[in-house]
Amino acid sequence: MKITILKGDLKKKAYNKKGLFISGQRIKKPTEKSKNILVIGSGGREHALAWKCAQDNFVKHVFVCPGNAGTHLEDKVSNIEIDSNDFDAIESFCIEENIELVIIGPEQPLVMGLTDFLQSKGINAFGPSKNAAQLEGSKTFSKDFFVKYNIPTAGYKSFEDFDQAVSHLEKINYPTVVKADGLAAGKGVIICSNKDEAINALNSIFKDKAFGSAGNRAIIEDFLEGEEASFIAVVSKNKIIPLATSQDHKAVGDGDVGLNTGGMGAYSPAPIVTENINQKILDEVMYPTMQGLIKEGSPYLGFLYAGLMIKDGEIKVLEFNCRFGDPETQPILLRLNSSLVDLCMAAINDTLDSYSIEWTQKHSCGVVIASEGYPESYESNKEVNISEHNNSDTKLFHAGTKYEDEKIITNGGRVFCATALGDNLKEAQENAYNLVQKIEFDGAFHRKDIGFKGIK
Ligand code: AMP
Ligand code: GLY
Repeated sequence: MKITILKGDLKKKAYNKKGLFISGQRIKKPTEKSKNILVIGSGGREHALAWKCAQDNFVKHVFVCPGNAGTHLEDKVSNIEIDSNDFDAIESFCIEENIELVIIGPEQPLVMGLTDFLQSKGINAFGPSKNAAQLEGSKTFSKDFFVKYNIPTAGYKSFEDFDQAVSHLEKINYPTVVKADGLAAGKGVIICSNKDEAINALNSIFKDKAFGSAGNRAIIEDFLEGEEASFIAVVSKNKIIPLATSQDHKAVGDGDVGLNTGGMGAYSPAPIVTENINQKILDEVMYPTMQGLIKEGSPYLGFLYAGLMIKDGEIKVLEFNCRFGDPETQPILLRLNSSLVDLCMAAINDTLDSYSIEWTQKHSCGVVIASEGYPESYESNKEVNISEHNNSDTKLFHAGTKYEDEKIITNGGRVFCATALGDNLKEAQENAYNLVQKIEFDGAFHRKDIGFKGIK
């Protein structure tokens, strides 16, 4: 069997089972039948992606860059200490570790072009190109794209100038929606019930720079009523495999009140996405988007996520994300019976038509446990106590956690996603909330009603 010694910056580093770097060790290259996978990111989504990849027998090891305490503790999974913005270091690592597949979780490295970079080096990277990722990276880009390709969306206007944006506020109806153009971790959207609130929103975007350079432009958009759903698919050029349907809970408070967050919980399947609606989403949103991107010279590869508003059987696109949703990934992957690695490889190899996706008929529900104060300021570095739990239908995915001195410590706003299966949504919800009860840390809070729309 071939033996390799890590070179360059990584020369003296190898990984023990717990994922810590240890010095001067030799590690074995994988045999032909074993694959090493690299997942980029550190959230609950990435824990779920890594956990799912590790379940394949043909996968030898999954590395996560930078990962969290959950990925650190997972069997066959190790964290690596490489800055995910350091593309050269990621490339070196992929070569040294014979990485067969890189799955890029968050939007930031996608929008920065990590997929293009790795693919140009001959490394299998699953995610859209920098150009295609503009669907999420710029709201002006995506809205102009929707209009060009006749994809239903709310009416809007885009502004680079504060005064012009303010004078537009005279001409519109309220409530209205003001959005920072660029990436703002799900927080750059402000729903304004009157003109004063809209002026405040524009002030915070353009003048206070509350969202940094994401606020160099802003969108003012018609307010849409209805029920939201997340439609997430694996796309490769003109081929698509829709994933199980899901619904996220964006607002911080029970009953969908309070500030928007990255998502406080999700469940799958989502009954709002009936067969008819499903077909409509494919015909009116997904196919035109895929074809439009091909026409623009940026065919899509990766998870493609349409955030939709559904009302009276009609759908409108609120946004596109160029990645899997967080927390939707957690309940969706708990239901996936077939191989995620094979699915990503089929997309990369343009053989999606030969992949047969399999789901459990069970329902799933994921409840986010967050740090008090999230989505605004919150404290970290709280020690977490997790009581014994061993229900095979549940899985605790970590998000903002780190592992220090053999302890799990909070390290972010969204800290865990307690996820569970059940024969129906009610049972999945009960199982998830039973798991939530096992987790304790100072300032922990969660919504009490995740899944309520699917049960009502
Ligand atoms: P976005 O990042 O554009 O998806 O917006 C985040 C959240 O803000 C959405 O999930 C909706 O809950 C809300 N939102 C965004 N745009 C609109 C709109 N035009 N009308 C009503 N709610 C919206
Ligand atoms: N859960 C919403 C998102 O991933 O953007």
